[in-house]
Formats: sequence, structure tokens, C-alpha cells
Amino acid sequence: MNQRVLTGITTTGTPHLGNYVGAIRPAIAASRRPGVDSFFFLADYHALIKCDEPARIERSRLELTATWLAAGLDPQRVTFYRQSDVPEIPELTWLLTCVTAKGQMNRAHAYKAAADANGADGNDVDAGITMGLFSYPILMAADILMFNAHRVPVGRDQVQHIEMARDIAQRFNHLYGRGRDFFVLPEAVIDEQMALLPGLDGRKMSKSYDNTIPLFEGGPKAMKEAIARIVTDSRLPGQPKEPEGSALVTLYESFATPAEALDFRAELRAGLGWGDAKQRLFETIDGQIGPLREAYAALMADPARLEEILMAGAAKARALAAPLLAELRQAVGLRRMVAAAQPAGIPVRQGRSELPVFKQYREADGRFYFKLSAEGGRVLLQSLGLEGGREAGEWVKRLKTEGATALAGAPVALGEGVVAAEVEQALQALIAAAQSG
Ligand code: TRP
Repeated sequence: MNQRVLTGITTTGTPHLGNYVGAIRPAIAASRRPGVDSFFFLADYHALIKCDEPARIERSRLELTATWLAAGLDPQRVTFYRQSDVPEIPELTWLLTCVTAKGQMNRAHAYKAAADANGADGNDVDAGITMGLFSYPILMAADILMFNAHRVPVGRDQVQHIEMARDIAQRFNHLYGRGRDFFVLPEAVIDEQMALLPGLDGRKMSKSYDNTIPLFEGGPKAMKEAIARIVTDSRLPGQPKEPEGSALVTLYESFATPAEALDFRAELRAGLGWGDAKQRLFETIDGQIGPLREAYAALMADPARLEEILMAGAAKARALAAPLLAELRQAVGLRRMVAAAQPAGIPVRQGRSELPVFKQYREADGRFYFKLSAEGGRVLLQSLGLEGGREAGEWVKRLKTEGATALAGAPVALGEGVVAAEVEQALQALIAAAQSG
């Protein structure tokens, strides 16, 4: 099975060059590797925790979508969606909330820092702290566990959240899995480069330090102006300059080839002026960002297209999320009354006629088919035409034993007017009936 890699991007800001070098560029490169299934999503529910300005949330969602696509993200290849378009995520959040220890959330860094600051100021410990902030790690656990991600690339500050997601997953598996693991235990992948891209003043590039270089917004002009403000020493043209430790050099090296980087260092040592060096830096960055900027402008001018791409991504995400959530609902006891499994020890015979049935058959086209019908004959699932009868039989067997889990990859379409939840319930009824004999 492919490795699933998943990352969320909080939709509160405008991407800058540090985001591009530290997160966007490497994530897109990684998504192109074989054997990797990437999930990228806009963490807009998380954004609501930090930001109560609707216009800013809206703008950031738009800019981030256009940025990732302009930077080369292929929405066909990866699953690219908005968190808020996948209602299974908040539903899973609740199931997880019910197995999460409050004491563990008390220790979450973001909450603890806010509570400690209140204490130091002599305020009530929870002054100004919302339940959103307190429960932040549970929503993040749901983001990750919903898709059974193996690896989660994040900044250092997020590692604790991944550890919490593992704990929560383990606890849920243990409580409800009956020997089966619903959730993969995710691992954090820390991107060291993230902290390395310096800003204009040499500190880490960050919106909170106001030392960023814009990526696309403001065009080449804004980028050039920011570069002009990079802090250097006061050596004049002709005087030798030390490249090591210079923010300008590190920025250059994030876009240059190794050979160009060596040349640049040699020229600075030989007296290249800072003004000329900045010009070279601008040209090098703009050589790569310029073409993407055009794509960005075209995407920003076509929000309908962005919306379409994101909704297609949400459909892909939900095709995975819905069957898993259906199983989890079953596992915790949120079951349909009619088709529910009988509690252990109280065997009740299920009349055959109440159960949905699978039928296998061959059509005039020579292909093999199967379908699942509800009592009364309504078609719930219809298979595609398969090469062999054996293959059809195997799928029927898998659907009968694995239920919704097998559904995601099965060569089937829903019957007319049928929703996935109905099929999941029908399969669950078959499993329950088989188990009770
Ligand atoms: N909390 C993350 C951040 O601030 C964003 C995020 C939300 C995320 N859900 C996620 C990252 C799930 C990875 C996986 O950076």
C-alpha cells in the first residue's frame, strides 16, 4: 500500500517566500514521488480558532488555493480539499473528543502557553481562551486519522499535536477496535529547512516578525522592494564580504544551483557590492517565481475554477472518509435500529426477507456483474462489467465480510437515488446477520 502523507495549511494569512521554500515547494516535490498518496487541505476550521475576521479567512482560502496550484500541485494526483467541505471530519472530532483525556489537553503547548500567560498577568487562567483553542489538537487528530495518514510533515511546534493524535488513535483502537485497528498511528516528519529560511533581518522569516518577502502578491515590484530591505553589513563595493551567515546568501542559495551558489560566494569575497548582489538575488528568485506568478494571477481571476477543483477534491476525500466514519459509528454503537447487530448473548433470528441480497450474473456482453438489492428489489449497488466470474465473486465476498471498508476500492456504482450511507447500513446488516448465524 502507498504511504499516505497529509498536511494541513491554516487559512489565516498570505503565503510568503518562507512558506514557499519551507513547505510548499518540498511538499509538492514529495507528492510527485511514486508510492506516495498526498493529502493537502486548507485547515479552515482551525483558522476560525485564531481569527474572527470572515473577510480574512475568505481571502486566505482563495490565495492559498491559487498559490498551491500555481506552484505546481496536481489536483488529479493528490487529494486537495478544504477541511470544512468534509463534514466527516467534525463528526470524527466528536467521537475522538469523547475518548480524549482533559488532562492531556491541559498540557497542549498552545493552550498551556495562553493559560500560563494569564497566570503571570494575574488573570483567571482561562481568560480569553476558547474551547476551540483548548480542543485544537483533537480537531487536528481527526484531520489525520480520518485518512489514516502514515506521515505528517509539520513544523517543530506541531510535533506534540501528532503525538497526541497517536495517543488518541491508540485509545480509540483499544476501546472499540475489538482486536482491529481502525486507525494508523501517524508519524511526524519535521522539515528542518522550515526554520532555516531567514527573513529580511536574518531571523526566521515569519509574518509575526514582519520580515517576510512576498511570494506572489504585489508582483515583482513588491518582491524587489522587500529584497532591497534585506539587512547587510556596511561594506562598500570592492571591499571583500563574508558570505557565511549572511541572510542574503542563504536566500540566494535557496533558489540557486550549487555551482551558482559557489560563484556567488566567490564574487562576494572578491568585492561584489551588496546592491548588485540584491539585484542578482531578485533575478534568480524571479526567474523561478515569475512564471508561477502568472499562473497565480490567472487562478485568482477565476474563483469558479478554484471552487470546482476544491469540490472535486472534497468528493475524493469524502469517498474515503464516509466509509470509515460509517464503521466508526457502528463501532461506538450509533447504529440503525432495524439492521443493528444484536447485543451479544441475545441471539435474535433475522428473517431472511429483511436482508439485502447480492446477485451475480453474466450479461450478453460476456462480462460478469453483481448487484446488491434491498428487500423489495431496489438496487443499492451495481457493479461494472468484470472480466471474470471469479473476480466478481471475490468482490461480493469482500463486501459481505468487510462491509464499508471494501467499498472504497470496489468496482461499483451506487444505484439510482441511493446514498452511500444506505449501502453501508445494508452491508453492515449482512455482516451482523452472518455473525449471529
Ligand atoms: N496546526 C497546523 C499548523 O498550524 C495545521 C494543521 C491543521 C495540520 N490540521 C493539520 C497540519 C493536520 C498537519 C496535519 O501548522
